[in-house]
Amino acid sequence: MVRTITSRMLLAAALVAGLAACGNETPAEQAPADAVPAAGAPSAIKERQDNFKAIGKAFKAVRAELEKDTPDFGVISTNANEINTLGAKIEGYFPAGTSVEDGYKTEALPAIWAKPEEFKAANQKLLDESAKLSTVAADGDKAAVTAQVMALGGACKGCHEKFRVDDEK
Ligand code: HEC
Repeated sequence: MVRTITSRMLLAAALVAGLAACGNETPAEQAPADAVPAAGAPSAIKERQDNFKAIGKAFKAVRAELEKDTPDFGVISTNANEINTLGAKIEGYFPAGTSVEDGYKTEALPAIWAKPEEFKAANQKLLDESAKLSTVAADGDKAAVTAQVMALGGACKGCHEKFRVDDEK
């Protein structure tokens, strides 16, 4: 008997919940039409932003090391390799239709798709400069490492200036 009552109560609760769900459907909960994604688009955007965040973190670790009187060049080399590995994944994170003009919360400019060769070159620069930093760090010369970190930073900046929304204005 107890079992019957319980399942009836559950059924009733489910019905109420179901009705409530229908009744509560307000326009505010619906995504605007222009934000309706091509399949997989939002996950690609999230993955690429997470990837850039990780690149940012690794670059920060490099710069933090350089601020020390005696930098740990092993840490710099490791993070340069990390940037190189993450940098190689960038091109896979930009499916068509995922720019800021497609209605997404992203800083990716349409130029990425309009000038694919330039974007690819900017990405390649990141790979080249990070690989070079890893090599230079192995020699343990702070001045040389500093110069190469500047060059790597230039690779970030070079791409951001052309292909990322400038939100620092
Ligand atoms: C080939 C182009 C390119 C290169 C090279 C590049 N970035 Fe970016 N970066 C972008 C784009 C495009 C975005 C915006 C992504 C988005 O919002 O979907 C971005 C976003 C970011 C973000 C913000 C991530 C977030 O959503 O919070 C950080 C941090 C970042 N980049 C750091 C760096 C650093 C550090 C370097 C160099 C070591 C670098 N990037 C090199 C293109 C590049």
